Amino acid sequence: MLTKWLQDHKPRGAAMKDQPAFYRNLEQHMDIHRADHSLWVAKPRWDDSVLDFTSSDFLSFNRSGRIREAFLEELGRHENFRLSASGSRVQYGNYDYLIQTENELATFHKAEAAYLVHSGYMANAGSMAAIPLPGDAIVYDDAVHASCHEGMELSLASSKISFRHNDSDSLREVLISLKESNAAFVLGTSSILVAVESVYSMDGDICPLAELVQVVKELFPLGNAQFIIDEAHSNGVIGPLGGGLVDMLGLQKDIAIRVHMCSKALGSTGVKLGVILCNKTVRDRLISNARFAIYSGAPSFPMVACMRAGYRLLENGQAEKGMAKIQSSVRHFLSTITAHPVWEEAVNEGILNIPLTEEYEDIECLTHIVPVLTRPKHELYLFFHLMINNINAYAITFPVVPKGKSRVRLVFHAHNDLDQAETLARVICEWAQEMLNIEAGETESSIPSAARQVYAMKF
Ligand SMILES: Cc1ncc(COP(=O)(O)O)c(C=O)c1O
Repeated sequence: MLTKWLQDHKPRGAAMKDQPAFYRNLEQHMDIHRADHSLWVAKPRWDDSVLDFTSSDFLSFNRSGRIREAFLEELGRHENFRLSASGSRVQYGNYDYLIQTENELATFHKAEAAYLVHSGYMANAGSMAAIPLPGDAIVYDDAVHASCHEGMELSLASSKISFRHNDSDSLREVLISLKESNAAFVLGTSSILVAVESVYSMDGDICPLAELVQVVKELFPLGNAQFIIDEAHSNGVIGPLGGGLVDMLGLQKDIAIRVHMCSKALGSTGVKLGVILCNKTVRDRLISNARFAIYSGAPSFPMVACMRAGYRLLENGQAEKGMAKIQSSVRHFLSTITAHPVWEEAVNEGILNIPLTEEYEDIECLTHIVPVLTRPKHELYLFFHLMINNINAYAITFPVVPKGKSRVRLVFHAHNDLDQAETLARVICEWAQEMLNIEAGETESSIPSAARQVYAMKF
């Protein structure tokens, strides 16, 4: 895997002297990112012998085959299915099975209506683009996903303003400044869409949703400020039966738009639908104004059947065992790493930091995402060290996270047992010890051994 990864980072522009300039220009542009290994490349799939602290198969529905079995059962119930929707939702593509599935999902999540779209990305981007009217505002947590930013760019909202991550005071300040700047927000003739995520995908922290809802209700009693929440990282892993954060908090009536992604815990349904839970007004607005629905064929039967199969697993309580396993592995990892003899020194010297270690004992519901913050560039060194020790957890750097917040992002699953959590903690600490030795001038090289091995590989 590393060999292929390195090959993909080898500069190509210079070797394209005699090629058409069109392609050379593209390669040269990508070379800028190849030079510091920051180019996004399609990674080869590793086999199950590598410890998985990266995939989005949180509940192991995919690797265990449970989603496949449920999918095949679902197909068996509809032997004469038609493969294609044969049209967009506003034309021929609005078939009964799709509508029934939406109704079932709405019931499961206690929503008035549901609307299925081809992916979570499209659900987020499409809703953000389609809902706001001219003169409206979007206010968003500064850590929301790229898909929200995409949608905001396309939206007709007149202002788009961020508030500090998970900070209700900051949200309050932004909302007050909007009210002060435009009477339409006070009179209720313009609206505000507040965008948040239930579990933030890079930090793994949970949105203080109940607190944010109170702020919005207090400042906008006419109901012209409403939330859109991205439940990508809570679907299947938080709340009763894995219904997500809004279901857990019983805030269904307070959140206008909930976007659930089926590409993750739901067994990474293979075909990755997004579910928009909303009321009938929002659904009609999406149908009539979201370009993804008007100008694209409706989701096909196998896509919908696959996600319905995933939801059947949730309804049958199959998420809950996996959720409990994730909780215990994350807790075990945190207690093991903090008890390791090198931990305190490594943190004090700024070699690594896991903010969650300071508070996890008081947190009832931990999430499956644990970031290990490092110094810039060290995230790659740690990634190499883990890889060479048969552990997969990716390095994440700017622009996915802010500058200075580089990290290796650990994702825990139902298939990571306590032994794996312990191995992970030990291997990270071995790396930290090596970095401390380098700092103390006790080694010949200033580059850690795994990185040296990787950089020495021939490609
Ligand atoms: C927070 C968040 N929102 C949206 C998406 C997009 O979801 P999908 O993979 O279903 O398109 C992702 C996936 O990476 C995500 O992490």
